[in-house]
Amino acid sequence: MSIADDAKQAVQGAVQGIMAKAVALAPDSWIPGGDPDPLIRERYGHVGKPLSRIDGALKVTGQATFAAEFSMDDMVYAALVFSTIAKGRIAALDTAQAGRAPGVVAVMDHRNAPRLAPPPVFMSAPKAANGDSLPIMQGDEINWNGEPVAVVLAETQEQANHAASLVRVIYEEAPALIALDEARARGMKPAVFMNQPLHNERGDAEAALAQADVKVDAGYSTPRHNHNAIELHGVTVAWQGDRLRIHDASQLVAHTAWSIASMFDLPEDKVIVTSPFVGGGFGGKCLWQHQVLAAMAAKQCGRPVRLVLSREGVYRVVGGRSPTEQRVALGADRDGRLTALIHTGLTVKTAANAMPEPFILPTRSAYASETLKLDVQVVELDMLANTFMRAPGEAVGTFGLESAMDELAEALGMDPVELRIRNEPEKDPSSGLPFSSRHIVEAWRAGARRFGWDRRDPRPGARREGEWLVGMGCATATYPYYRMPGGAARITLSRDGGAVVDIAAHEMGMGTATAQTQVAAERLGLPIEAVTFNYGDSTLPGIVLAGGSQQTAAIGASVGAAHRELVRELLKLAGNDSPLAGLKPEQVISRDRGLCKADELACRESYASILSRARQESVSVEAQGPPPLETMHWSMHSHAAMFCEVRVNAVTGEPRVSRFLGSFDCGRILNPKTATSQFRGGIIMGLGLALMEETHFDERKGRVMNPSLSEYHVPVHMDVPEIEVIWTDIPDPHAPMGARGIGEIGITGTGAAVANAIYNATGRRVRDLPITLDKLL
Ligand code: MOS
Repeated sequence: MSIADDAKQAVQGAVQGIMAKAVALAPDSWIPGGDPDPLIRERYGHVGKPLSRIDGALKVTGQATFAAEFSMDDMVYAALVFSTIAKGRIAALDTAQAGRAPGVVAVMDHRNAPRLAPPPVFMSAPKAANGDSLPIMQGDEINWNGEPVAVVLAETQEQANHAASLVRVIYEEAPALIALDEARARGMKPAVFMNQPLHNERGDAEAALAQADVKVDAGYSTPRHNHNAIELHGVTVAWQGDRLRIHDASQLVAHTAWSIASMFDLPEDKVIVTSPFVGGGFGGKCLWQHQVLAAMAAKQCGRPVRLVLSREGVYRVVGGRSPTEQRVALGADRDGRLTALIHTGLTVKTAANAMPEPFILPTRSAYASETLKLDVQVVELDMLANTFMRAPGEAVGTFGLESAMDELAEALGMDPVELRIRNEPEKDPSSGLPFSSRHIVEAWRAGARRFGWDRRDPRPGARREGEWLVGMGCATATYPYYRMPGGAARITLSRDGGAVVDIAAHEMGMGTATAQTQVAAERLGLPIEAVTFNYGDSTLPGIVLAGGSQQTAAIGASVGAAHRELVRELLKLAGNDSPLAGLKPEQVISRDRGLCKADELACRESYASILSRARQESVSVEAQGPPPLETMHWSMHSHAAMFCEVRVNAVTGEPRVSRFLGSFDCGRILNPKTATSQFRGGIIMGLGLALMEETHFDERKGRVMNPSLSEYHVPVHMDVPEIEVIWTDIPDPHAPMGARGIGEIGITGTGAAVANAIYNATGRRVRDLPITLDKLL
């Protein structure tokens, strides 16, 4: 097995929870700080500066090439035909008329599609693409309403779309399990997430609840959500000799190459997946059927293929977030100390899918409580496999938990901020591990001050301005720190002073390329302009998933390891004639275009001098990041305190968010400008979760009924108020560069902060998302 295979399996292993079988290594075998270079944790250079996006100019001038913009000679355009039944088989499929339509080059369906090996399993992509061994377009079986049944290829997109409308399909329908109540009646089963049960228990929480001085006990529900990145899922593919080239919009290029190679029975290096720019991912830009169908179609017709899912197509082919039904019950003594914390409920998934929406995750480490009971049950429906969507679990789980905390605060007659601070745990209440760094109380205090929380009237409905009822609410936000194994990076340093960092990582618009250029430049002691950060190509080293808010840590640890390797290599080249002669790599750091002795900066030699004496134009090293053992020893989470002000129209019920503030504690902030956008973007998505987003799923036919942005609502500019973002900026001593993830936390807590503000404004407690105006009349 190659190192790459090894690492890929390691990634898979981590994702599926094998890492959780704790590796019995002493904490000090993990380098504290995740970084052997102490100076990277100081502020002296590029890190921490608000550098503008290095890809900004390319994007605003239209020069950034997205997946569906690569032009290829002789390319054809694809359109898909989607199943209109949820379960059964194709009895007859007539493509003759489509085949005769203008411009049509070929029509592919299960009868003439190339034969494929079963897809390797990866996380939660759809049943027929990754979740199990069911192949793609290999037979007449239908597994969900919307499954692709034919691919039409034509000289133009319009011709392909027209011809797709001419394909006639006759189905033999089989009974499908689609309705939640029916599925529930047939029986639920315990949910398993990443190979771990979604279940925690400490003490007898139900008994403690029954005996509690003060208690709340309520049900909260959240709907299905679908992925709506601005950029549609699209791919341009070509077979070039024995190589398959895929221009994708991807959060996981290396893994996609590996998966597709195994389906087409190709050596992995024959599949090249690139993804230089992604117009939004949020968990949805992974491997679905469309990439595989495009590669099959290109093989079948012998020409390059561009396949862009229509907006409707995204709803049919790309899974979304599952609905949840949650119970949160809290018991407390009269001082507000929690004695019982119960968070249980139900979600849905498909039979072959490994992704039950893990809504209890945020509750595990949230509050000190004498007793705890957490549990997720699941039912399996015949539907498109669901998947990760930004802060899976935490986004909707914090809605239930943090709404309930607000209800408890009212029952106690206590300020909701104080209630949370009073229940701040000393160590992780579920795992018993110490926190790596947790400064949420500072975040609460700073946020409350800045937001003017003291101006809130705790009496619901007390503040009215004309037609508008005004209220304030707050909630805790949280998202775990992850770092998956498999990270590796290459650094090539040239005598002329430039450095190239190569890593198979991703830029989905969040600023990774910018922030990581800063980190690399700082580590290498080079100006920003001297560093090229190369990413988004499966042929580069490493397997780095842009997901779980873990990419920053994964890249940072890999580049750190490669830099240490570079120092070793340069010291060897420097030899005995260097001022650095005799120094060990651990004594040497990079500064000002060269190496120097860490505690005596004047003792130095420039890179150019070392390389010219060694008569080398450049030096190139590659290294893997250290194993991600930090989460074995510390409970690591990003935290935030969210504050919201709403205005609800007393006549129409229309809710408008008028102010929002997020006060974050996410470790060190590498780039305040890109970080602010990340936090704001998450909060905006959270406003949509609170007030608008809802997939309408027909429980008779299993079909999504609002597959378009005209009927599935997300916030637009007029829905988004001023959002203020502040942070503690306290480095986490156990995270590479001191930085925990910032990508997903913004959407957590936001739903509850809005709901709690609406309660404060109106006295209406809405426990069912989204909070639309009909629920406020
Ligand atoms: Mo995120 S839902 O892990 O891309």
